[in-house]
This record gives sequence, C-alpha cells and structure tokens, in this order.
Amino acid sequence: MSRTTLFVLLGIFAVVLIFGYTAVIPTNNEPRAVPTNTPGAAAGGGDEAGEGGDSSGAAAAGQSIYDAQCAACHTTDGSDSIGPTWQGLIGSEIALADGSTVVADEEYITESIRQPAAKVHDGFQPIMPVFELNDDDIASLIAFMQSLE
Ligand code: HEC
Repeated sequence: MSRTTLFVLLGIFAVVLIFGYTAVIPTNNEPRAVPTNTPGAAAGGGDEAGEGGDSSGAAAAGQSIYDAQCAACHTTDGSDSIGPTWQGLIGSEIALADGSTVVADEEYITESIRQPAAKVHDGFQPIMPVFELNDDDIASLIAFMQSLE
C-alpha cells in the first residue's frame, strides 16, 4: 500500500517533472522564437519595405534636409512663405519673373537648388542661397517633394 503510494507519488513526480520541463522549454523557446521570428519577419517585410523603403527612405532623408535647411523659407502645406510652397510643386507650371513659364520637373528643381537665381519664380525675391547639396541630397529632396503631392 505504502509502496503503491510511493510509486504513484513518484509517477506523479515524474509526470510533473516531464510536463514541468516541457512547459519550461516552450516558455524558453517563445522568447527565443520571437527574436528569431522578428528579424525574419523584419527581413521578409524589409524586402517589401525595402522597395517602399527606397523612396520613403529617400523622402525621409529629403525631409531632414528640408527641416534643417529649407523650412525657413518653404512650406509643405500649400501656403507660400519667403519662397514658394513645395506642395504640388513637382510637375506644376511656374511663372517666372522674366515672363516665361516652365514646368517644375526634376531638371528645373535641380537647377533651382544649384543656381537659385537662374530662374526666379515670379512674385518672389531672388534671395535663395546656394546650398552644398550632392546628387543624392537633391534626389532625396525631390522624393520628399513628390511625397507632398
Ligand atoms: C532664405 C530663404 C530660402 C531658403 C533657406 C531656401 N529657399 Fe528655395 N527659394 C527661395 C525663394 C525666395 C524662391 C523663389 C525665387 C527663386 O525662384 O529663386 C525659392 C525657390 C526654390 C525652388 C524653385 C521653386 C519654384 O516654385 O520655382 C526650389 C526647388 C527651391 N527653392 C528649393 C530649395 C531647397 C531644396 C532649399 C533647402 C536646401 C531651399 N530652397 C532653401 C528661398 C529660399
């Protein structure tokens, strides 16, 4: 009787140990599985986000340049400031101070940044400074402007 009880108790103990162990293993695995899955998911999503990430990353880079160097004179909400707003700028028709018009394509945007005085937007003072910006910076700024459409 007492031996049976002992076996039963041992059996229960063993079962508890085994289940306890199996219960502990998945518990330990879960946190392990999460970090394993997260980079996996991030890498998987990163591929898709990588494509979107290219343009949105460029737009984000453009936004930081804008925040730091352009926001003093350009808005992104459609209201003109010291300079013309960037909202709706890309592809729009710009009236120039010399009476001609030009479409604000990438070439015009690039020229306006590299040589601000070359073509002056009608109604604005030709006071925009020249900035030290490389091709990547300008591409980012254009991506940012496009994101404002
Ligand atoms: C001190 C004020 C000032 C700052 C700072 C400034 N701009 Fe301008 N920007 C102007 C003015 C004024 C005009 C309109 C006159 C002209 O066409 O030169 C202009 C025009 C432009 C245009 C042509 C837009 C149009 O509607 O014809 C672009 C593109 C532009 N700026 C880009 C930039 C970028 C990029 C930066 C930051 C790196 C910047 N600007 C910083 C004043 C500024």
